[in-house]
Amino acid sequence: MTARVTRTQVGIIGAGPAGLLLGQLLARSGVDAVVLENRSREYVEARQRAGVLEHDVASLLRELGLADRMDTEGIEHGGIYLQFDGERHHIDFHDLAGRSVWVWAQTEVVKDLVAARLAAGLALEFEVSGTAVHDLTADEPRMTYRSADGEQRELVCDVIAGCDGFHGPSRAAVPAGLLTVSERVYPFAWLGVLADVAPSTDELIYAHHPDGFALHSVRTPEVSRLYVQVRPEEDIADWSDERIWAALQTRLGLPGWTLHEGPIREKGITPMRSFVAAPMRHGRLFLAGDAAHIVPPTGAKGLNLAAADVVVLAQALVAWLVDGDERLADSYSDTCLRRVWRATHFSWWMTSMLHTPPGQDPFDARLQLAQLRHVTSSRPAATDLALRYTGQPLP
Ligand code: APR
Ligand code: PHB
Repeated sequence: MTARVTRTQVGIIGAGPAGLLLGQLLARSGVDAVVLENRSREYVEARQRAGVLEHDVASLLRELGLADRMDTEGIEHGGIYLQFDGERHHIDFHDLAGRSVWVWAQTEVVKDLVAARLAAGLALEFEVSGTAVHDLTADEPRMTYRSADGEQRELVCDVIAGCDGFHGPSRAAVPAGLLTVSERVYPFAWLGVLADVAPSTDELIYAHHPDGFALHSVRTPEVSRLYVQVRPEEDIADWSDERIWAALQTRLGLPGWTLHEGPIREKGITPMRSFVAAPMRHGRLFLAGDAAHIVPPTGAKGLNLAAADVVVLAQALVAWLVDGDERLADSYSDTCLRRVWRATHFSWWMTSMLHTPPGQDPFDARLQLAQLRHVTSSRPAATDLALRYTGQPLP
């Protein structure tokens, strides 16, 4: 079957936050792009993911005119609580770092990005299949795919942006031996629920507990997002709503404070790993977001790293494709990886400090508590956490 051939400057695989935000940043500078997504619009807009935007990522959305709903329906958080040993301590980001974060679900960010792209008449195709990339080291790399209506297509590009998440085809297209993978798989996972109940807290509670970590996050004034640490091989069928609430009550409970319960609308288990693939470029293929790196969710960095990657990538591609200057494209991978490794360290550190591994050595448990006490009682240590959680300035 002969394919219908079209052309674009940047072929973007994946309509997650990375691909969609890159598309907006390029459009602003007059660079043409096509975004291909294998799932349906309904699916990508409903997928439950993280929910915390760093200070500068929230500002970026505002600058792009994508924050009207965030500013009215999202919630600015000026800190978090760290809980351990029966005590709850507040880390005040405003006071310590002069910065805040926005609690605004990734799924809402995606909805606004999709709506903006379609309203501007920019190319975005859902439900494509068989996406493959070719000629990555030639001047005109290509993508082939089948459109939702079954037509075989070929897209000839100047560059391809692999924004297709951890399981997408982009990273796999880099020849074996050219990518170095650094990885850590943790001996626990998060069981996350969305519950129809007003949050019992004004800011997120990260709780260390001998039974395992728990997190109380929020979505809206009527919806709470809660997590408990479980084993990675845990079967969700073994976790009734009653069992989940009981675990949350034990791990988050404090005298004089009530965790309100409500109907659980959705539940799922997410394994936890750190993963970094380097370099983030092969020829004219650039990897961004989860396609290149994964962090455990404890530091809330996944979405923010994806945003930082595409800010760097958009600058590099505009310099190259508009001004003919390839230097930023050449330094793309190194620039991103510096931030990625700092965030990888932060996420690993938060994860290690707060989770109780199976069969934990009592010595390690004492070290965790000493670390938590240090972070909550030393102003320099708390400031460091506040600066890292609210995020490094965007490039
Ligand atoms: N063809 C087209 N699209 C694809 C393909 C393919 N073969 N494979 C995957 N995709 C799509 C996925 O369906 C998804 O919509 O690529 C998109 C990748 O989006 P994300 O997984 O959200 O990754 P990213 O945009 O990098 O955002 C990172 O997402 O996983 C969370 O916690 C992570 O918050 C972080 C953020
Ligand atoms: C979430 O709201 O889903 C969330 C918040 C903070 C995290 C991870 C997830 O660290």
